[in-house]
Formats: sequence, C-alpha cells, structure tokens
Amino acid sequence: MAGIVLITGAARGIGRGLAKKFAAEGWLVLAAARRTTDVSLDPAIHAIPLDVLSDDSVSSAAATIAAGYPCIDMLINNTAVFPGEGNERLEDIPAEWFEDAFATNVVGVIRVTRAFLPLLRKSASARIINISSGAGTVSEKTDSAYYPYSVSKAALNMLTRAMAAEYREEKIPVFALSPGWVKTDMGGSAAPLSVEESAGSLFQTTTRLELEKSGGFFGRDGEVYPW
Ligand SMILES: NC(=O)c1ccc[n+]([C@@H]2O[C@H](COP(=O)([O-])OP(=O)(O)OC[C@H]3O[C@@H](n4cnc5c(N)ncnc54)[C@H](OP(=O)(O)O)[C@@H]3O)[C@@H](O)[C@H]2O)c1
Repeated sequence: MAGIVLITGAARGIGRGLAKKFAAEGWLVLAAARRTTDVSLDPAIHAIPLDVLSDDSVSSAAATIAAGYPCIDMLINNTAVFPGEGNERLEDIPAEWFEDAFATNVVGVIRVTRAFLPLLRKSASARIINISSGAGTVSEKTDSAYYPYSVSKAALNMLTRAMAAEYREEKIPVFALSPGWVKTDMGGSAAPLSVEESAGSLFQTTTRLELEKSGGFFGRDGEVYPW
C-alpha cells in the first residue's frame, strides 16, 4: 500500500476521480461523502460518511477512522459549492450565497482539517491538499464573475498560507492546487478537461510536491499559480 488518503466530496466529480486514481495507484482511499451509496465499491475505496458542514458528522468520521486505520498520509480537501450561475451582479446576490460558499469552501476545510490533524500527525510523511481554483487568484482578477465562489477560494488560498506557516515545524506541508476547468456538475459540459485527465495530473502533483514548496498555489501539473 502506497499510503492512506482521505478525500472529501468523493461521491462525484473530481473527488470521485481522485478516489479512483489513488486506488489504481495502490493507495488505500477513505472516500468521504454525504451520500456514501454513491461511492465506488472498489475494495481499496472505503466509504466514510462525512458532511463538512456538521461538527457531529466530522467528529464521528474522525472517530471511525481512528478506530480502523493507523494514520492518514494525505488529506485532500476537495469539497466545494458554487452558489448561483456566476454572472449575477453584486446587488442581486443574496447574502446567503456568500455564507454558503464560506461555510463549505472555507469553514468546512477548517473543520475537517482540525478533526483529522491527530491522524495526520501519526503519519511519517503527512500532507494536506486544498483544492482551490484559478477563480481564487486575486492578482489576475479583471472581471466580476463568480462573486461568492471566487471570494471563498481567495480566502481558502489565504488559509492555505497560514496553515502552511503553522504546520511547517511539524513537517506537514499544505498546498493549494487548481484542478483546471473540468467537466463536472460544477465545471459544466463545455470544460476542456475530463475528470480522469484532471485527477491523473493532480495525483502526480499531490504526491510529488516537496516540503519546501509548502504554502504554494499550483496548477494541476505543478506549475506555479499567481496569487
Ligand atoms: N470543475 C471545475 O472546473 C473546477 C475548477 C476549479 C476548481 N474546482 C474545484 O474542484 C473541487 C471539486 O469540484 P467538482 O467540479 O468535482 O464539483 P462537483 O462536481 O460540484 O462536486 C462537489 C462535491 O462536493 C461535495 N459536497 C458539497 N457539499 C458538501 C458537504 N457539505 N459535505 C460533503 N461533501 C459536500 C458534493 O457531494 P454531494 O454529492 O453530496 O453534493 C460533491 O461530491 C472543488 O473544490 C471545486 O471548487 C473545480
């Protein structure tokens, strides 16, 4: 076994693609999802019920994993929501869309990471991957698209930097990775990349990035992204 990876939002989209890729590469996959009936029954993929919005759900998932597995070598915070269509004007966006985007895309990552740090600390070489987005790039922003989603992903990038600084001493690197524009429910059918292409590149990058690069923001092939 190459290692144990916990992937959130693993029932569909990129999370599901990552679960299959890691399993095919010899990893034991803890596929966390709200509806575990949608998680593949591959023997190397173990379904874990987990809703990132719920303290109870996350702590019960942590207890289940602590009872059945020695450690977590990689945590992939993949879950996200994209409220609205993306082209709404600021004055027309309900405040709840911003709250929903932050609750899942930022606070959800914090809740999950805190709960699984004790299991990451049991690994000889743990790492944390936050699935971000080119939409979270502040320096390249020239339009007003995707307000709730893009501001939440920019916040996730800041969270990644802060976590990297805090956990550097413990040698737990934290990276923000953009998967590219991918054909999923969120990415839509016009996206150029398949889930398999994105997950294949992300697998290579997540397993190869070195500790010294902790706190960085990268594309799926490991190219440096602007902040
Ligand atoms: N697709 C793209 O083009 C693209 C581009 C840039 C970045 N990304 C990022 O890539 C990641 C995956 O995106 P995707 O395209 O695969 O999205 P997706 O197809 O919309 O899937 C989102 C996943 O998140 C899960 N999820 C949502 N809320 C949850 C919650 N409260 N608890 C647990 N799971 C929850 C969903 O589970 P349910 O089935 O239970 O709803 C689903 O498995 C996200 O971080 C996204 O921002 C995607």
